[in-house]
Amino acid sequence: MTENLLIRSMIEDDLPMVLAWRNHPEVRRYMFTHHEISLAEHTQWFMRAVQDNARRLLIVQEQGSPIGYVQFSNVEPGGVADWGFYARPEAAKGTGSKLGASALEHAFGQLKLHKVCGQAIDTNQASIRFHERLGFKREGVLRDQKRMNEQYQTLICFGLLAHEWQAHTQGT
Ligand SMILES: CC(C)(COP(=O)(O)OP(=O)(O)OC[C@H]1O[C@@H](n2cnc3c(N)ncnc32)[C@H](O)[C@@H]1OP(=O)(O)O)[C@@H](O)C(=O)NCCC(=O)NCCS
Repeated sequence: MTENLLIRSMIEDDLPMVLAWRNHPEVRRYMFTHHEISLAEHTQWFMRAVQDNARRLLIVQEQGSPIGYVQFSNVEPGGVADWGFYARPEAAKGTGSKLGASALEHAFGQLKLHKVCGQAIDTNQASIRFHERLGFKREGVLRDQKRMNEQYQTLICFGLLAHEWQAHTQGT
């Protein structure tokens, strides 16, 4: 699934593209902060984030075209990291799965992580299905955990271990 894909670090030149994705209504509505982000705020965030050695900001490309953004935080070999992602809005069906598979290959390969954790708002059916399709286990529910636009949101916690990913890719 990941043969035509390349994963690379996000660079400053990617800022306008990633900002347009991040501000798209279908992405923004599922983020923990969902105001429209300015280029100045986005640039500040990027400059801070790239200085954090335990963070990886990544772009996945298919045949040279960017298909989405993935980030890992708390990265260290053998460690337990958190991830976040969005596919290029209006990308073809199946894009998310390719993005996820490429990012997890990188996470358990190059980054040598032991576990990847994700959290999805309980109304985000695409993300919940996406995690399940990639082999993540549901590990818990955090009720009314985030306050967004004066409403409390419940989060579903997902986790995937390195050996589970290996088994998943081998179809066992
Ligand atoms: C989550 C996201 C990456 C999934 O990308 P995608 O391109 O839709 O993913 P795929 O087409 O590969 O689909 C993955 C699975 O999710 C399902 N799915 C996709 N959109 C769905 C939706 N709106 N409702 C229910 N299931 C959906 C697909 O059917 C598929 O499951 P299946 O193989 O059993 O049919 C994408 O929707 C996205 O970027 N969303 C906005 C940002 C976001 O929510 N990020 C995650 C925050 S936790």
